Amino acid sequence: MKHLNIVSVLLLTTALMSGVQAQGAASQIPATNVNTPGATPGQPTAQSTGTTSPLPYNTPSRLPSAGTDDLKQSVAALQNTLTELQALQLQTKQAHWNVSGTLWYTLHGLLQEHYEGISADADMAAERMLAVGASSDGRAITIVASSRLPEIPGGFLDDSQVIQFFIYQYETVGQRIHQRINDVEKVDPSTANLLQGIETNIEKYQWQFRAFLQSTPRDPNTGFDLNNGNAVPLRGK
Ligand SMILES: [Fe+2]
Repeated sequence: MKHLNIVSVLLLTTALMSGVQAQGAASQIPATNVNTPGATPGQPTAQSTGTTSPLPYNTPSRLPSAGTDDLKQSVAALQNTLTELQALQLQTKQAHWNVSGTLWYTLHGLLQEHYEGISADADMAAERMLAVGASSDGRAITIVASSRLPEIPGGFLDDSQVIQFFIYQYETVGQRIHQRINDVEKVDPSTANLLQGIETNIEKYQWQFRAFLQSTPRDPNTGFDLNNGNAVPLRGK
């Protein structure tokens, strides 16, 4: 009887110890990873069951705080860039349809490429505004009122006229975007990076039109001279 009592006590002690250990382990599993070092706050961890975790929430990082002048500057840089890109979308399409002359087919295709690239960049700028917490304004009335770019002439467009028009437009928009990069690179580096990508594309488009003029003085194939026999200087920077 005494022997049985000792065995019972040992079994009971073992069972109690197991229970305590299990309870201790369970209490260490967090419902979310709020207190888990190195994890993303609010996201359920691999250890959690997920049944009691709150929904993950979205906390923008590395952004200026809402309502600050820094964030307003970032939003303004994106909105102004969006408006100018939308104006260029309309103008490249208008020229794509109406360009005439010896170079019409070359320019017709080039303008379509530019239209597609500019459309993609406009979408990036617009959606970055949503990411920083602002709405984007893509209305026609905003483009007309705010782009501050010369309008493209109506009717058929001479090929040389199209080349010179877009050299100027791209130069102007490229310089404006460059200034905005300087304005926001400290307060919102991600937006500055996005604008740099757009600036790079605009500079490429500007070169692609500028090259028509640069080659003409000694071009034996066309015999055209769209710049009075003068070399075209690199403009912008
Ligand atoms: Fe087309």
